[in-house]
Amino acid sequence: MVSHLLLLALSAGIARAADPCTLATASTWVSSEIAHACELNVPFDKARSVSVINSTIQALQYYSLENWFLNSPDPLIPHNVNVRALLENVQKTTSTVGYKTDWDFNMAITDAFNREADGHTLYAAACTESFSFNLPFSIATLAETPFDLIAYPTFLVNYDFPNQGRAGMEDYFESIGVQVRPLDGSRVLAINGVDASTYLVNLATESSIFNGLVGAYETVNPRYMRLMARYSADTDAGLYTLEVGRFGQRAFYPGANSVTVTLETKEGIKTVTIPWAATFIGSGNSTASFISETCLAGVDSASRKRELKKRSVDASSMNQRRKAVVAPEAQGPIRQAATPPGARVAPPGNIVQPNLTSFGHFVTLDIYQLEQHPKVGVVYFEQFEPSDGTDAETYFNGISNTLFSGLTALKAAGVEKIIVDNSGNRGGFIFAGAIAMWSLWPQDLYPGFPAVFRETDLIRRESDVAAQSGLGESEYSYFFYRDFNYVLLQNNSQFMATPVPQVVNGVPDAYSKQFLDDFGDNSSAVTNFTTPPFAGEDYVFVANSICASTCSIFSSYLFQKHGVRSAVFGGTPASLVSQFDGGVKGSEVTDFDEVIFELQLAGLDSDPAAPQPLPVSASFTMNFRNAIPYIDKQDGILEYVFEPDTKKYQFTHDQYFSPQKIWEFVAEEFFGN
Ligand SMILES: *[C@@H]1O[C@H](CO)[C@@H](O)[C@H](O)[C@H]1NC(C)=O
Ligand SMILES: *[C@@H]1O[C@H](CO)[C@@H](O)[C@H](O)[C@H]1NC(C)=O
Ligand SMILES: *[C@@H]1O[C@H](CO)[C@@H](O)[C@H](O)[C@H]1NC(C)=O
Ligand SMILES: *[C@@H]1O[C@H](CO)[C@@H](O)[C@H](O)[C@H]1NC(C)=O
Ligand SMILES: *[C@@H]1O[C@H](CO)[C@@H](O)[C@H](O)[C@H]1NC(C)=O
Ligand SMILES: *[C@@H]1O[C@H](CO)[C@@H](O)[C@H](O)[C@H]1NC(C)=O
Repeated sequence: MVSHLLLLALSAGIARAADPCTLATASTWVSSEIAHACELNVPFDKARSVSVINSTIQALQYYSLENWFLNSPDPLIPHNVNVRALLENVQKTTSTVGYKTDWDFNMAITDAFNREADGHTLYAAACTESFSFNLPFSIATLAETPFDLIAYPTFLVNYDFPNQGRAGMEDYFESIGVQVRPLDGSRVLAINGVDASTYLVNLATESSIFNGLVGAYETVNPRYMRLMARYSADTDAGLYTLEVGRFGQRAFYPGANSVTVTLETKEGIKTVTIPWAATFIGSGNSTASFISETCLAGVDSASRKRELKKRSVDASSMNQRRKAVVAPEAQGPIRQAATPPGARVAPPGNIVQPNLTSFGHFVTLDIYQLEQHPKVGVVYFEQFEPSDGTDAETYFNGISNTLFSGLTALKAAGVEKIIVDNSGNRGGFIFAGAIAMWSLWPQDLYPGFPAVFRETDLIRRESDVAAQSGLGESEYSYFFYRDFNYVLLQNNSQFMATPVPQVVNGVPDAYSKQFLDDFGDNSSAVTNFTTPPFAGEDYVFVANSICASTCSIFSSYLFQKHGVRSAVFGGTPASLVSQFDGGVKGSEVTDFDEVIFELQLAGLDSDPAAPQPLPVSASFTMNFRNAIPYIDKQDGILEYVFEPDTKKYQFTHDQYFSPQKIWEFVAEEFFGN
């Protein structure tokens, strides 16, 4: 008895003394409590934090939506956020009373950007994303039939989700006495004591970083869908998968160490409390080494400068750089572990994988003919960017060749209608979207939307230097763009040389003149189609609202220019209308390092208005250009055009994991036999 007590006292003493970051990294899975103790053990550093917040605020001049998002003109797409004021409050706290820990400081900045609900614009310190937090179950909101208005949250054990790398999780949960398999398929009645649907809709609406949710999309439906388990091909290698969803997996501390769910099980109503588990993906095994290896900046500016010099001078290099993409849900190492190089072949028994005749596959593109509706083909654009190491040029060629050969072969096989699935497409290379648009409509003068850069005095001077040097290393080089007649710009006064003053939400602001990207003279360089292979009414989108960046540019273009219809699945249980592309509609994203590179290029890096390299390791991206819509121009930017579905459906118990079943259903609904 005495020795037992002694042992307890001893181990409590050891636990108090132990470094929480050593505990957190000692085994693959640990409790979220231990993981979070490590995050909280990094002390607030005032000098470092002042330079972070100051540069973050100075970088706002590159953020093209800052004033647009002060006040939304469209009640369906709310944005009423003063991100500058929020950051200035952080600046004030930083330089006066300070923050309790480094984690609290980082989260304050991430929170400010996260409120913009613009998945392009995010600040995430590596220090706060160094664990992946996981539950052993996911939720999908399912109905009895696709036509039901009401659907119910359902408890899904996620250990066996294909290509999600859940290795070791079940053993860990079993070891702490948590057995969820008997609960699989139960209806979720309540979460943390709140009606389950209400709880989930609130979680999606608030999308709070303090609940571990980052990277919000513009409307609530895609935010809700991102919480859910759903089919997708968004793993590192483009394999079909069931996403765990953000209810069951977070890149930030989830705000609590457990979730309590009330379930309607086969044996009656049960309430269970399930803890979060965490796995470390940072570096370092003590607080000191965690700080030096994960939190602090790793890349020195000399190597950044060397990287700059490698840039070449033509439009194709610019097309390989311009991106409109939203970060994936799980961190890179988690995604890579889910599909290690050896496993990049679809394993047998993947319940998501379509069992259809393939008419083409290339990295992120799949083309099929349906079995029950053989006059209907499917083009699944899973992403517009490879994440498996394929280089940009190979990717562009592969996408255009596969689209040409696939659609040509489908037509030869008697296919007359096409389903375009863009469910979960986060975007990617802007040029890849243009190749897709030009393949379908090769005679269109320009495949995409006009755009503008935001312009301050510093940015105008960057464009002056770019024009004078003529080297084409800067995105602010006028000769990379075309006018509305699709003629290359001749000088900087057609572009940025005098900014176009505007008043946005009452605030004086300035932008470049509107321009088009240069994708070459005409479509013949990117497709062998010379006439459209199908007409606008022959297409229908299958969507789950999650379609961001280049995906939304592509989809908006097909909708606005060619009247393409849509079948949208899922979303909040009671919503009657969704956008088919409710993600993020900005026309380009930049990252902070690129902003710094451009300033160095122009020799303006010491300018008092220039942000300085961050002393910490962080991912900091911003919406860089605004797209100008073809319809509803009165709202100014593409973000504020609400693009409603043609028909809305719920996922059912036997369809949610099967794109093939969804496609056959939509073929019947839209095209009959
Ligand atoms: C940070 O910005 C504040 C407000 O503009 C300024 O007073 C302060 O000197 C700046 N500090 C540093 C280290 O740049
Ligand atoms: C921490 O990592 C260092 C360097 O890799 C290693 O020498 C040391 O043994 C590790 N400590 C623990 C407690 O794992
Ligand atoms: C795939 O489809 C073929 C043809 O309909 C069928 O014979 C086969 O059993 C299916 N395979 C699976 C794994 O469902
Ligand atoms: C710029 O180019 C346009 C188109 O060729 C021309 O009309 C205009 O005069 C030029 N402006 C300057 C300042 O050279
Ligand atoms: C289309 O562009 C190619 C170069 O990519 C050029 O050779 C051809 O003449 C152009 N065709 C038309 C009709 O402008
Ligand atoms: C067009 O066809 C030619 C010859 O068949 C082929 O070499 C080329 O790769 C094709 N180009 C595209 C963009 O499909």
